[in-house]
Amino acid sequence: MFRTKLVILLAFIAVSGLSACISSSASKPYVMADDQTYQAALFRQNCAVCHGREGEGAVLPNGTVIPSLRDAHHKFNTRAEIYNQITHGGNGMTPFERQLTDNERQLLTDLVYSKLRGGK
Ligand code: HEC
Repeated sequence: MFRTKLVILLAFIAVSGLSACISSSASKPYVMADDQTYQAALFRQNCAVCHGREGEGAVLPNGTVIPSLRDAHHKFNTRAEIYNQITHGGNGMTPFERQLTDNERQLLTDLVYSKLRGGK
């Protein structure tokens, strides 16, 4: 009887230890709605209207295709290219040169590059 309890106890410890290991090693996807930084607030105020709340992209009622900012396949890859797109817009995107400061556009560039696309 004692041995059975011991075996069950040991099995329990092994399983809980293992699951703790698995959950801590799995990286959670970045959720913009949970991010309380100024960076994420800027995105929600200026970009989500087209790119979606999580930057997942959309097709507007007029047929304009808004690209996902998370996809592995994107048009602009470097920080400079992303910054340029945010500053000058084009191809259906509004320019933010006058609406946002240089620092704010840098913050959004980092958000797209690092948080949404996982770049370092
Ligand atoms: C009026 C709708 C609209 C708004 C608002 C908007 N975008 Fe865009 N965005 C677009 C469209 C359309 C494209 C595709 C442009 C192209 O294909 O050249 C795009 C493209 C991009 C790209 C390039 C994606 C790629 O494939 O590499 C980035 C980065 C981007 N937007 C970031 C932002 C950020 C950050 C904001 C907020 C400051 C923002 N956008 C606001 C419509 C919008």
